[in-house]
Amino acid sequence: MSKVKISVAKGDGIGPEIMDAVLQIFNAANVPLEYELIDMGKSIYDKGFSTGMTDDAKKSVETNGILFKGPMETPKGKGVKSINVTARKTWSTYANRRHFQSLPGVDTVFSKAGIPIDITIVRENIEGTYGGIEHMNTHDVAICRRIISRPGSAQVIRFAFEMARKEGFKKVTCAHKANIMKLTDGLFLETFQQIAQEYPEIESNDIIVDDLAMKLVARPHEFQVVVLTNLQGDIMSDLCAGLVGGLGFAPSANVGDNISIFEAVHGTAPDITGKLLANPTSLLLSGLMMLRFLGLVKHAALIENALRYTLEQGVHTADFGDRTIAPSNTNEFASAIIKNLGKEPEFSKPRVAVDGVELYQKKTSADFQKMMETPNPEPATIVGVDFFVESNHPAADLARTIESKLQPNQKLVMISNRGTMVWPTGSSFTECVDHYRVRVEGTQSQPEIFSLLSSLSEKMYIPSHEVLRMYGNKPGYSLAQGQ
Ligand code: NAI
Repeated sequence: MSKVKISVAKGDGIGPEIMDAVLQIFNAANVPLEYELIDMGKSIYDKGFSTGMTDDAKKSVETNGILFKGPMETPKGKGVKSINVTARKTWSTYANRRHFQSLPGVDTVFSKAGIPIDITIVRENIEGTYGGIEHMNTHDVAICRRIISRPGSAQVIRFAFEMARKEGFKKVTCAHKANIMKLTDGLFLETFQQIAQEYPEIESNDIIVDDLAMKLVARPHEFQVVVLTNLQGDIMSDLCAGLVGGLGFAPSANVGDNISIFEAVHGTAPDITGKLLANPTSLLLSGLMMLRFLGLVKHAALIENALRYTLEQGVHTADFGDRTIAPSNTNEFASAIIKNLGKEPEFSKPRVAVDGVELYQKKTSADFQKMMETPNPEPATIVGVDFFVESNHPAADLARTIESKLQPNQKLVMISNRGTMVWPTGSSFTECVDHYRVRVEGTQSQPEIFSLLSSLSEKMYIPSHEVLRMYGNKPGYSLAQGQ
């Protein structure tokens, strides 16, 4: 079997210790991989590269298409972006797949109650609040744009269904908050419902994300695959990590069409660095996700069975396991797994290698930034504008000033504060901040909107505005609470 070349960045802190342990296990299991070692993270920031990676490292990942990485430190307060988030976003690894399963020897309330957990979270990895588009609109008010796109949602949702089809999952659940965020989460849910129809053999349902949090804790075995937007997925996946014994047992894959990144979920653990105390299980499980992704399912099954057998024997690192058995250090833990290659776990279900999975085909490199568009979009028409105003005056005073500047076709419809309507009607008990949203309907072109804002800007500060558009016969904007 010819070897697949991948880029490997050992990372910072405990990264090199756990990566060496995992590569030793891979070598002992004759995994047909060739490793191109690259430097990313702290040492590169220290050399003055604000992205945390050199051009050579970038070229290596873009050529090989696979990055296996240890945790990396983002220097605090130096104005640099997290290397981990930058890598995921730059290379469009739109699906973050995290697998949470009960492991032998890792005691949790569920393992003690005999309830096995096997949940896969698929989290959208590019959009939502992770765009990092934030502004202080006034001295007192910060805003963050949460971007949810139709093609971005479709990519991650299709990934979840394709994964379910290939790997035999029976059910995919979409978690969301579409009851409150009707346009953003509503778009994610609508896209889910459309794509679900293409996979009739897979059961699909949806759940409000807070209900999911409660049910994951009460009845985790009812979930197989859950697909979510970025921040909600981040929070729910840490909750799932807690169900199976913590972040040390949570592997993660960031999958894109061209480049995929496999990494442990935990960080660089500076408190135990250099002491060989680190547990390599999370990185090993991430490596097994990578082997399966590459089609090396037999090697993955061989190693996972050895890991499970080793855990069943009570072998553990200092962060978990039976306190009456002396902990192994990182290298001893890896050696125990190597010794047990070929053995099968007795008490937990052994992994069976699935034959016939296609071997990974590396995609050709991209020559340009791809534009993802929905075919035949609904025609859009402008019907008005929402704009934000800095003011500490009562809404009625603001309304008088605005109405004096309107053209006959324009109508002041409402003013809200923190999303709650305060004019023309409202409650005197509604507490306000110095940031009003004003809705004017009737303007039908961008020049008309800009001329209105320009004349108002002589009287007030307008930090931002949003054009109101209809898409077909559906409004592309939400109503204020109370409207
Ligand atoms: P952390 O995950 O590094 O550590 C939290 C606690 O868990 C510590 O007590 C640590 O000793 C323990 N721990 C973590 N991994 C362990 C392992 N494999 N074996 C045994 N114990 C383990 O989180 P923290 O302290 O918030 O972050 C430290 C650094 O890691 C920061 O610079 C942060 O930016 C970075 N980080 C990097 C990530 C990545 O590369 N994907 C993810 C999270 C944090």
